Amino acid sequence: MKYQSQQVAKLYFLGALLIFSLQIVFGLAGATLYIAPTSIPVDLLPFSVIRMIHTNALIVWLLMGFFGCTYFLLPEETENELYSPFLAKLQFWVFLIAAVVAVGGYLTGHYDGRSYLEQPMFIKVGIVIVALMFLFNCTMTALRGRKTVITNILLMGLWGIAIFFLFAFYLPANVVIDKMFWWWVVHLWVEGVWELVMAAILAFLLIKLTGIDREIVEKWLYVIIGMALFTGILGTGHHYYWIGTPGYWQWIGSIFGGLEPLPFFLIVLFSFTMVRKGGRDHPNRAALLWSLGCSVMAFLGAGVWGFMHTLSWVNYYTHGTQLTAAHGHLAFYGAYAMINLAMFTYAMPLLLGRPPYSQSLNIWSFWILTSGVIVMTLALTGAGIMQTYLERGLGEEYMDVQQQITAFYWVRLGGGVMVTLGLVLYLFALLVPGRAPATSRLGLSSMS
Ligand code: HEM
Ligand code: HEM
Ligand SMILES: [Fe+2]
Repeated sequence: MKYQSQQVAKLYFLGALLIFSLQIVFGLAGATLYIAPTSIPVDLLPFSVIRMIHTNALIVWLLMGFFGCTYFLLPEETENELYSPFLAKLQFWVFLIAAVVAVGGYLTGHYDGRSYLEQPMFIKVGIVIVALMFLFNCTMTALRGRKTVITNILLMGLWGIAIFFLFAFYLPANVVIDKMFWWWVVHLWVEGVWELVMAAILAFLLIKLTGIDREIVEKWLYVIIGMALFTGILGTGHHYYWIGTPGYWQWIGSIFGGLEPLPFFLIVLFSFTMVRKGGRDHPNRAALLWSLGCSVMAFLGAGVWGFMHTLSWVNYYTHGTQLTAAHGHLAFYGAYAMINLAMFTYAMPLLLGRPPYSQSLNIWSFWILTSGVIVMTLALTGAGIMQTYLERGLGEEYMDVQQQITAFYWVRLGGGVMVTLGLVLYLFALLVPGRAPATSRLGLSSMS
């Protein structure tokens, strides 16, 4: 590790892993309720609150991870220390406390009804303050130092995240307009600006892990983010089919939504080409596995599972079924959980001043976690296809259909148990010092 201020990233990575664990606990509780609806008394903890904590925790830990990734890579990219490590630490604690207060509020019935944006108003204001602290710190660091394409794209993505969050404050009375702008946060995040963040972090990792020339990476990055924005912005239309917006959105959403897999496909080509051309044999093989796995799983989850229901005449039947949940899980995991886990795997040994031991344990955790999410996705896909057929095709009642597809929910819970096991192994591999075998002979300097 070259710069002292990179150390603040450690705080963010640990916080993210803690909240990831919380997310999984609530996921397991939700999946259990699907099978045994009375196992958790509804007046103690209703399903809606469990779901809310599960999805909010997801967003919080992914953002916390992105903040940490940025604080880790910015000094190396800009070749100078962070503008203010103190502000970065303060920002972490404000964010963590806001998250804890929000969850406490959810548990005691304080939330607003809009999915992902349930935080009470003062928490939303807190989030904006956190974002401003972060953007100020990073922008000042970038302005002072070397300018690279990776930093520019990363900062563009991070500014975009903050700007689109402002639509969370716009609460029109008209429910159609309300839904329209809700997607400006939710869709334009994950299918717009978050993609820039993901591409920038992946590019940084590939340069470090394969030794590939920066110039080659930059050319790819431009094409990828150009394609992501070209398809993703108008792709918002794939959420405007049935909310009361004009009919032309059926065409816009189908065409641009249909093109949205392209940037994800380019990311797969990009990462494998870089590994082929790069050729450096980095001792942290697990980090490379996570990076490549991320590009492939993001393509499957976002590209393939997204394409399945993006055309309006398919979405007419599948809208809001378990197919959506299948896609939501694989896409979020593949693109944004895995890019974070890749960076943690790369950076944690450096931050802790250890060689990257526990490689095989980490690689096991990769396969178990990823397989667990795949099992969950396939189970939900099966449930979604049955649901679409029985409910939308044959016109059976919602609850009657749910009764007939419980077998899929058992498999989903099984996948959830695998995910939990994978996460425990991952935490062990990353945090518990192990005996260092052959890798200990490599000096730390050769790994950064
Ligand atoms: C990593 C990127 C992506 C993530 C994290 C993601 C996540 C999600 C989530 C969580 C939902 C459910 C939203 C809700 O109703 O509450 C959703 C819906 C949807 N996604 Fe994605 N998505 C991604 C990329 C894509 C792509 C590339 C496509 C198209 C190819 C796509 C197509 C759709 C469609 C059509 C829906 C609406 C489903 C319905 O009508 O029920 N998504 N996505
Ligand atoms: C132990 C593992 C997990 C279990 C058992 C689990 C279970 C659940 C359950 C029961 C729901 C509510 C579904 C509904 O409303 O019908 C849900 C929603 C969701 N989960 Fe998970 N989950 C797990 C892990 C994850 C992971 C690793 C991610 C992403 C990285 C994730 C992302 C989501 C998202 C985005 C939604 C909202 C989906 C939508 O709107 O369609 N979950 N999960
Ligand atoms: Fe979307």
